[in-house]
Amino acid sequence: MPALRPPGPQETISADGAAAVFHAHSGSKIYNMGEVEVHALRAVTLDLYEGEFVVLLGPSGSGKSTLLNILGALDVPTSGEVYYRDHILTKANDAELTRFRREHVGFVFQFYNLIPRAHSTSVPANWSWRFWKGSTTR
Ligand SMILES: Nc1ncnc2c1ncn2[C@@H]1O[C@H](COP(=O)(O)OP(=O)(O)OP(=O)(O)O)[C@@H](O)[C@H]1O
Ligand SMILES: [Mg+2]
Repeated sequence: MPALRPPGPQETISADGAAAVFHAHSGSKIYNMGEVEVHALRAVTLDLYEGEFVVLLGPSGSGKSTLLNILGALDVPTSGEVYYRDHILTKANDAELTRFRREHVGFVFQFYNLIPRAHSTSVPANWSWRFWKGSTTR
């Protein structure tokens, strides 16, 4: 990821001088549901440090999954910045985010995201689409 982080704000340095691994600054997420806007995150600022064991606690609908999806680069905030070490995730392109997820993120999904009793034709159809696509784009 080429985007280098500018000189970091004060709160990204812990008491023992360690730099934050993740830093979110004023991260907000708004889902547009037709005429209704759902404010899933409002100006979230947080630092996460190496070796920390962090529990994200809140009632259903408070935005836990939304925040984790953004930190894990599965989703992007509507506004605000998210940094991973020296990289600005919110300025990275799709290829850079794919590499970030592959090399730095592990997810255990709430609902597993396994293929539910795949229809006998759906998996082969998906794979053949990938093979066909792979053979014609290069
Ligand atoms: N894709 C989406 N489209 C529209 N609204 C969404 C979407 N995803 C989440 N929301 C809304 O955003 C808010 C936060 O949802 P989120 O799933 O992040 O909460 P959560 O804290 O993970 O809840 P839970 O404990 O039930 O998993 C909720 O009001 C939810 O309905
Ligand atoms: Mg959730």
